Amino acid sequence: MTEIDLKIVREKAEKEIRAAQNRADLERIFHSYLGKRGQIALLFKELKDLSEEQRRGMGQKMNELKKYLEKILTQKKSILARVKGGAKKAEPSRFDLDRPGRKPEIGHLHPLTQTKREIMAIFASMGFVVAAGPEMENEWYNFDALNIPKDHPARDAWSTIWIKSPESTKLLLRTHTSPVQARYLEAHPPPLRIIVPGKVFRYEATDASHESQFYQLEGLMVDKKVSAASFKAVIAEFMKRFFGKNLEFRLRPDFFPFTEPSFDVAMTCLTCSGRGCPVCKKTGWLEVAGAGLVHPNVLRFSGLNPEKWQGWAFGFGWDRLAMMKYKIDDIRLFNSGNLRFLEQF
Ligand code: PHE
Repeated sequence: MTEIDLKIVREKAEKEIRAAQNRADLERIFHSYLGKRGQIALLFKELKDLSEEQRRGMGQKMNELKKYLEKILTQKKSILARVKGGAKKAEPSRFDLDRPGRKPEIGHLHPLTQTKREIMAIFASMGFVVAAGPEMENEWYNFDALNIPKDHPARDAWSTIWIKSPESTKLLLRTHTSPVQARYLEAHPPPLRIIVPGKVFRYEATDASHESQFYQLEGLMVDKKVSAASFKAVIAEFMKRFFGKNLEFRLRPDFFPFTEPSFDVAMTCLTCSGRGCPVCKKTGWLEVAGAGLVHPNVLRFSGLNPEKWQGWAFGFGWDRLAMMKYKIDDIRLFNSGNLRFLEQF
């Protein structure tokens, strides 16, 4: 045995330790060199074949080699402990201050809020101002002031959620945004143009296109000379800008006690491109608004002279507009709290 043997062992061990990937590798290397039957132990056994003098010199060198190998094994062990995939448990993890941070999730506006803002911007550019009214209304504004007297069968058209209250005027959750017409007319002299985006409530079963709590956009224009033609022009402009293209829509005769004549606005169902689906009840058309020329009684109840003033009004289902724009096939998704749905907007 010579010093060359020691050198060969040292270099081989160094190489293996450098290449070690994990704790198990180091374990194996330790046994093969420093274990009971390891290479160092074998070399020690060979010492007896040497002369006394050689033995002393080689013995010292072998001890040094042994210490050296122990040292570099320990060093490698702590390096591996810090590296991913290494012996994770061996050392507590360290903060890596250079690592780019993870952005916290910030929410975004609900699709209905986004739609509302778009609608408001379009009407604002046509001179409409935004008005609001209470969600809990009284019977007068929700019905009487809109020419729907007590016991009139027309009241059945709005399945009402009544509120128990000791007051003499009965309270309810507004069934439409039309009461804001009456409230606004009472307080503001014409000419005027308003829109009223708001939440409304009906005591009704839900399905793909009906919710018991939904959203309307009321519109009202009162001036000296106002006609159904100007209504149609405003709606056409609105639809074109909201949907980004010229769409087919149609006015059909309808009945509302607070407008005369009355019509409804139906548009091609965009969920199925007019082919027929559950949203449009297989008709290809979806009713998106009720409308008409303001009934003289409504003007009269608000203190205006119907000989002097005329107006038109509409009430859009603004959640239906959002459904059409984004091809949403079930109105109930809006209130579902389903993040997979909401994150798409
Ligand atoms: N308020 C009516 C409804 O809820 C819609 C409407 C508004 C009709 C304005 C005419 C004028 O059905």
